[in-house]
Amino acid sequence: MIAIIGSGRVGTSAAQYITYMELDDVVLIDIIKGKPQGEALDLSHALSILNKSVRVTGSNDFKDIQGADLVLVTAGFPRGPGMTREQLVAKNAEIVSDIGKKIVEYAPNAVTIITTNPLDAMLYVLYKSSKLPRERVIGFSGVLDSGRMKYYISQRTGFSPASINAVVLGQHGEKMAPIPRLSTVMGKPVTQMLSDKDIEEIISETVKSGAKIIELRGYSSSYGPGAGLAIMAESVIRNQHKTFLASACLNGEYGLSDICVNVPIVLGRKGIEKIIELPLNDEEKKLFMESVEAIRRNIAEIPSKYLE
Ligand code: 2OP
Repeated sequence: MIAIIGSGRVGTSAAQYITYMELDDVVLIDIIKGKPQGEALDLSHALSILNKSVRVTGSNDFKDIQGADLVLVTAGFPRGPGMTREQLVAKNAEIVSDIGKKIVEYAPNAVTIITTNPLDAMLYVLYKSSKLPRERVIGFSGVLDSGRMKYYISQRTGFSPASINAVVLGQHGEKMAPIPRLSTVMGKPVTQMLSDKDIEEIISETVKSGAKIIELRGYSSSYGPGAGLAIMAESVIRNQHKTFLASACLNGEYGLSDICVNVPIVLGRKGIEKIIELPLNDEEKKLFMESVEAIRRNIAEIPSKYLE
């Protein structure tokens, strides 16, 4: 069973993709009375129409995550127009810390993936508050940022996004680190296919697209995060050992510890199986480290009571 905590736009979008893919039964949890039950009922009707054989239920009781193999944490305040993800630190740390403790109480063996912003700092809160092994505490966002970069590369090269491998490391925020030299089509770097101007535009669009969605429609992205959560969930539930860019809490990798940051991981039934260390050149290392410093600044703002 997959538990989704938070039945807002991201949680319900993930539930929609996950049940459409028939990965597993889903329970939606939310503190708002009626909201997860109503979402689950509507989605159940959709699944009946589509002749799908998985079940979705809604609950206001955390106990109902009991027995979950995978817990997706999508709860928390989303950013609004004109806001940065970083402005949400204090508000969301309290929510995530509380959820971390509940996961340990009711689903201590689950793999957990969080989407709450500011992503890397909230993953750090989840890791510290739950004290779960770092392999089972994962931050979603690299899939979204690299998926966006793939889209913008595809727009300019004409290649299908399915044939493009885009690499975005570091913070899920203003200081994210897109790496065009390691972004390729069948091994050919996009830096050898596109002009510097094109690459600069791709980077800028990738970094700014989350804010652009908010500006255009008035609220934050949901289809992208929902789809990304679903493909990560698939790799866990079906033990696919697929590689993803995702936030992981490092312990020596990239020469770093006590930090959660987007890097390539291998994901399977037990969570993170491996962290892949990419061969970065000096300039890319500098970019990555600036991104790491931005996360450290976010972490420094977390009240210590939420890290216990
Ligand atoms: C995004 O990048 C809100 O962080 C989310 O769309």
